[in-house]
Amino acid sequence: MLTLLQSTFPGVPITADIVEGSSQLTDNFKALVAKTTNLQKSPFAWYIMHSEDYERQVKEKGHLKTFDFIHMIQMIYFVDNLASTIKFYHSLLKNNGRLMIIVEADLRWLAHPVETYKKDFCVDAIQKYRSSGEVSACLKSQGLKH
Ligand SMILES: C[S@@+](CC[C@H](N)C(=O)[O-])C[C@H]1O[C@@H](n2cnc3c(N)ncnc32)[C@H](O)[C@@H]1O
Repeated sequence: MLTLLQSTFPGVPITADIVEGSSQLTDNFKALVAKTTNLQKSPFAWYIMHSEDYERQVKEKGHLKTFDFIHMIQMIYFVDNLASTIKFYHSLLKNNGRLMIIVEADLRWLAHPVETYKKDFCVDAIQKYRSSGEVSACLKSQGLKH
């Protein structure tokens, strides 16, 4: 995604802040960046911590760094509070910035109630079943266009 952005806007300096709870996955990400030619000069800030801790840290510092683009790809299942997480990251967007959330499709259109699937989704670290329907309702309740 960053490579694509950088090649689309070659003259624009790109900086990226990464929030990732797993040090193993962060190391994998760093290794990938190191061998990606057009990202080697881009400054990265690495926050090896859960989203909730990053939010706490940013609020404690009282200095909000803002972003043109924030993505949450298949991670919304892991956060404690969906509404406050969306509100927080939305507050970090610059004017005309975009927040991209990728999440499981809402399965309620299927003949079976969602309860049927909960047990399959809610394993290990995933405590709550969250789908596009819930995210959509949450955005709507905060008056956010999506
Ligand atoms: C299903 S993976 C998706 C990874 C990546 N976004 C992708 O699409 O390939 C979920 C990611 O969320 C991270 N994660 C889990 N709980 C988190 C939290 N509370 N805050 C931030 N990241 C978290 C995991 O370490 C993992 O990298």
